[in-house]
Amino acid sequence: MRALICGGNPATWRLTEVPEPAFGPADVLVDVVAAGLNRADLLMRTGGYLPTSDDWDVPVNRVGFEMAGRVRAAGPEVVALRPGDRVMAQTGGACADVVAVDHRLTLPVPEHLSWPQAAGLPSALLTEFDALRNVATLAPNENVLITGASSGVGLVGIQLARVFGASSIVGTTRSTAKASLLRSLGATAVLDTRTRTCAPAEAMDVVLDHVGGPGLAELLRYTAYRARIVQIGRLAGEQATIDLELLAAKRLQLLGTTFRGRQAQELHELVARIRQDLPMLTAEHGVRAVVESTFDITEAEQAAARLAAPDLAGKVVLRLTGQ
Ligand SMILES: NC(=O)c1ccc[n+]([C@@H]2O[C@H](COP(=O)([O-])OP(=O)(O)OC[C@H]3O[C@@H](n4cnc5c(N)ncnc54)[C@H](OP(=O)(O)O)[C@@H]3O)[C@@H](O)[C@H]2O)c1
Repeated sequence: MRALICGGNPATWRLTEVPEPAFGPADVLVDVVAAGLNRADLLMRTGGYLPTSDDWDVPVNRVGFEMAGRVRAAGPEVVALRPGDRVMAQTGGACADVVAVDHRLTLPVPEHLSWPQAAGLPSALLTEFDALRNVATLAPNENVLITGASSGVGLVGIQLARVFGASSIVGTTRSTAKASLLRSLGATAVLDTRTRTCAPAEAMDVVLDHVGGPGLAELLRYTAYRARIVQIGRLAGEQATIDLELLAAKRLQLLGTTFRGRQAQELHELVARIRQDLPMLTAEHGVRAVVESTFDITEAEQAAARLAAPDLAGKVVLRLTGQ
């Protein structure tokens, strides 16, 4: 089978023939139809992000963190899935013709989602659902600020905040052109971080921070008393200097999160909870990945260029052949 491999010199992706994965008793073997790309895939090209071998049972140079496809075979412990079932999952080495994934990490592909919409959803859905529900414990009518809101994860964060009953949802961007997309998904206000001409009208109870860097200091000023700031991504850098007096005076909680190194049990519980809510989220409320472009796996370098483009807003998805 073919798999996308990173780590060459120059830093490119190579489509390479590799053996099909073995699958364990709790796994399903999936013929991948489409795989979503993430910023982390781009960072892996230059060593800026290194998955650990503990997280996935695939070599660490395999590209891809999410996919959708059809079950080809299932291990003896798998009772709820059969060959032909449509599944999507966050899993390592997803940009390949075939993946083996623990069935407890899979979600059914809702009928009304296309393959690209399904392939681009799992990472963002797990990240933002976990951040809002489990980490920030968002309550109805709270105000939510989402930085880097036009990122693949941020666009799903806006939609989930709306479904979970947030009162105001403020998204940040550095692009005037992306503001209408953020509003169309549920943002009640858009903050342009280049001009910083105005703060959000309301104090924010929950912040999903995908940007990090020096701008984190300013976010503290926009928060309400006892707000929760969830640090998810560091697009603008890994260092920030913050006002600890403000942190203490407002009794703020600054909470970091990642899926790296998480216990399998915790991931299974998260996916099980999302599986329960999935029809409500996707059918009733239309939550989906915003797919901005698709490429054949043989055009992976063009997909990487699109992923790095400043006008990107949404998911870049690779098409494979397994249907
Ligand atoms: N912790 C976790 O579990 C987890 C899971 C998934 C993703 N992440 C992280 O979340 C972040 C977003 O990932 P993604 O794959 O969704 O990204 P993406 O779709 O590639 O994000 C692209 C957007 O990010 C914004 N951006 C890029 N560089 C920026 C910078 N220097 N400052 C501010 N904004 C910048 C741009 O928005 P504008 O042009 O509108 O400004 C751009 O539209 C990444 O840092 C990723 O590592 C974390």
